[in-house]
Amino acid sequence: MNICVIGCGYVGLVTGAVFADLGNEVIGVDIDQSRVDTLNTGGCPIHEPRLPELLERNRQEGRLKFTTSIHEAVSKSEIIFICVGTPPAEDGGTDLSEVEAAAIGIARAIQDYKIIVNKSTVPVGTGDFVQEVIERNGVTSTDFDVVCNPEFMREGQAVRDTLQPDRIVIGSSSEKAAKTVQLLYQALNTPCIITDTQSAELIKYASNAFLATKITFINAVANLCEETQADIREVVKGVGADSRIGHAFLGAGLGYGGSCFPKDVDALLHASRRLGAEMTILEAVRAENDSRVPRFVQRIIERLGTKSKLPLKGKTIGVLGLSFKPDTDDMREAKSIEICHALREAGARLRAYDPIATANARRIIGDEDIEYCKSPYEAAKGASGIIIVTEWREFIQLNLNRLKSEMMEPVIFDGRNIYSSEQVRDAGFEYFSIGKTSLKP
Ligand SMILES: NC(=O)c1ccc[n+]([C@@H]2O[C@H](COP(=O)([O-])OP(=O)(O)OC[C@H]3O[C@@H](n4cnc5c(N)ncnc54)[C@H](O)[C@@H]3O)[C@@H](O)[C@H]2O)c1
Repeated sequence: MNICVIGCGYVGLVTGAVFADLGNEVIGVDIDQSRVDTLNTGGCPIHEPRLPELLERNRQEGRLKFTTSIHEAVSKSEIIFICVGTPPAEDGGTDLSEVEAAAIGIARAIQDYKIIVNKSTVPVGTGDFVQEVIERNGVTSTDFDVVCNPEFMREGQAVRDTLQPDRIVIGSSSEKAAKTVQLLYQALNTPCIITDTQSAELIKYASNAFLATKITFINAVANLCEETQADIREVVKGVGADSRIGHAFLGAGLGYGGSCFPKDVDALLHASRRLGAEMTILEAVRAENDSRVPRFVQRIIERLGTKSKLPLKGKTIGVLGLSFKPDTDDMREAKSIEICHALREAGARLRAYDPIATANARRIIGDEDIEYCKSPYEAAKGASGIIIVTEWREFIQLNLNRLKSEMMEPVIFDGRNIYSSEQVRDAGFEYFSIGKTSLKP
């Protein structure tokens, strides 16, 4: 089929590349000229495992092209995927201006029947909004159908998730349009839930809010562990073994961040209030999540600081991991931003290392009182403590003896529980992890 994907970010690029790989003709559209230039000259503007190879193969075989012209892309396509950003609005709701701009662009280019698929995460009712924007811009309703097909991929494993999703959700008032979109996914052999548009829109928000709640719940249990002799990892082993609960999303840590969970929890809370069915549970999730970093920083200050206005003045702290999760360069709502800010406010000087996200991090975190390093060992130089912020695989395999030899004081604050207590204690470190009292060597 001929497809166009509007918005060549994390979702649009992976979606477009996978559909091309399944044999479709795909045109990616983006308003960012430099992004389109990068894509048309063989590059990949984001870090996502397996994506560069997929882009390259399909570009070479002529099934994947990129343009800034929405008109050209829409005219050549039967199915149009909207994959633009849906950031938070000032009032706590969702800013749909990119979706609206895409819908207007589509309307201006429609000459024959099109299926318009919303893949962006959008509040309940956005399908109707897109329908209305397109009609308002001169297209009769018989010339198009609107479908909601939310995306569930995780950055860092987006290609795998797109090729092997748990489920595909397709919502539409048009059975014909829903069935046509379903055909696109036929080769994946995945359970497909065909439903109405509003249910599809809500499935996405409810899924993300539930996962955020699961993470938050176990973090709250971790707080209890820190006040007792219990160990959150042992607790999770027992809790997760219940098949009604499962182990996924029970890793205690610094709280959820990233480009989706914070904004989607907020958007659902906002929508529930607006609709008079307030989900107060999400208020509690938010509050608990917001307390994760202050609590972690407080533990660092208690161990390394002095009782003064700038308790960490004169201390150097090594920060390992800046991206919001491993295997991505995405810094949106990364915990590192809040942590670096709090530590600098407390007077610390930072030495930070991330395998991929340093350039993006520098733009957001800045250069004041922070040096960006080329290796974890360089980040450890002269440090009174190392903090693990993102659980990149390479941190698990660090040479702990070498790390210790670079440091002023061998203390690790592990915000992601990547080490076993015994492993770091045997290497001579004092070890603070989430959901366990500290361990001295
Ligand atoms: N990133 C994820 O892991 C993920 C997962 C599931 C769902 N989502 C949802 O998917 C949507 C896209 O997320 P993303 O992370 O890919 O965003 P992104 O910011 O990486 O990409 C959005 C792209 O759209 C482009 N764009 C904006 N307005 C445009 C327009 N009018 N025409 C053409 N291009 C335009 C931007 O330049 C950008 O390249 C969001 O609603 C998000 O919540 C994201």
